[in-house]
Amino acid sequence: MADIDPKLPPGAARSPGISWTDLMQSDARPVPDFLLHESYQYRGSEPLATARYTSAEFAALETEKMWPNVWQFAAREEDLPDDGDYIVYENAGRSYLVSRQADGSVRAFHNVCLHRGRKLRTEDGNADVFTCPFHGFSWQKTGALNEIPCRWDFPHLKDEKMVLPEAEVGRWGGYIFLRENPGGPPLAEYLAPLPEHFSRWKHEQCTTAVWVGKVVPANWKVVMEAFMESWHTLVTHPQILPFTGDENASYWTWGDNVNVNLVPFAVVSPHIDATDKPQQWIVEQFIKFNGRSADSYEEGADAFAVTVPEGVTARHALGQAMRENYSTLFGHDHSDATDAELLDALVYNVFPNFAPWGGFMPNIVYRFRPAQDVDHCLMEVRVLTRVPPGQPIPRGVPLHMLGPDQPWTDAPELSTLASVFEQDMGNLPFVQQGLKASKTGQINLADYQEIRIRHFHQTLDKYLG
Ligand code: FES
Ligand SMILES: [Fe+2]
Repeated sequence: MADIDPKLPPGAARSPGISWTDLMQSDARPVPDFLLHESYQYRGSEPLATARYTSAEFAALETEKMWPNVWQFAAREEDLPDDGDYIVYENAGRSYLVSRQADGSVRAFHNVCLHRGRKLRTEDGNADVFTCPFHGFSWQKTGALNEIPCRWDFPHLKDEKMVLPEAEVGRWGGYIFLRENPGGPPLAEYLAPLPEHFSRWKHEQCTTAVWVGKVVPANWKVVMEAFMESWHTLVTHPQILPFTGDENASYWTWGDNVNVNLVPFAVVSPHIDATDKPQQWIVEQFIKFNGRSADSYEEGADAFAVTVPEGVTARHALGQAMRENYSTLFGHDHSDATDAELLDALVYNVFPNFAPWGGFMPNIVYRFRPAQDVDHCLMEVRVLTRVPPGQPIPRGVPLHMLGPDQPWTDAPELSTLASVFEQDMGNLPFVQQGLKASKTGQINLADYQEIRIRHFHQTLDKYLG
């Protein structure tokens, strides 16, 4: 209690010690304006009802009022690069065929036969004509009716009325979005200011190198919100504290739809007393976490194995190593990249469920969808890597779907991320169970470090209201 300052207005308190803004002032390169200026707004301290996560009625409201009216991240361009490629995207009770057209555009049709309602497709593929496997009604990939078998028996169906219902499609940064109901803001307006920020990081230059999914036994918002704050690192992921500024992280919001958690790496957590440790210790801890022995590494043997020169911080030394390493690996010139853009977790969220990381390192992208019921979430993790300049974007890898009993560590392509996710999985099913068992029917949020969660719920209420 001693460190509560009663004179501060609500939301004004910050962790003691070095802040994100301090770190940006001492970055090795000039920092873009949007990383320099705090964009925090206090939004109240009221508890949230647990029913938001546990009630089937609340989930039904989301399905009726929210999901059809938001831009949903449906696919990456590299999932369907060729004419006729399509993917099946399903969410919140709907199923869509997202289809690449001959002119390179993308259209999204409801994936339901207009005869007796069979799903037209259950898997991704390539087709110019979608023929229903039940009686053979078929549609062109433009959504126009192709054929009705036994046409004589359907004189009441007019060809021009038998087009597949279509959703709006928007594209930005290599991402394909769809919206069921027309009439809301265009995609660029909905995403703002994300496209402006990501104009530095250009996800349209990237392809999906890793894509892993799993159904997690917790509400989709419970799972997503575990990735919207970094302060649970202290108790849930203590092994990364020696090189993670968990409590130094910034939490900013813009408008209704976009927020970010900026977590500095290559600095020691304020929760650890490392005053007697040299900067080299931070590098060694980082290397140890990445599965390599700190005692046996040779300088230059891997990109992280740097010797921190006298008078230089581990952050600057690792930043410089990454600046060179990513330039060599991916062929882009990163000489102007800040340390923050090379090292840190710049975890953005776009309402409701799309979370791309900024920066120049291989970028993580999360998506969280409701699964079979209010108690389950389909969580997906992609890692995008940058394609060298002048080369075509290669087709992305397919989804590696883990079984419900498989740990994330069964996806070795996730590398050290998998063990961190497993620590999160150690909480999430029990959060869901606890919310259902709650006597108070309420949860409480931090004013600063959990502002993104409150921001999300306030926007959700605008749809549900
Ligand atoms: S349900 Fe599709 S053709 Fe009959
Ligand atoms: Fe976590």
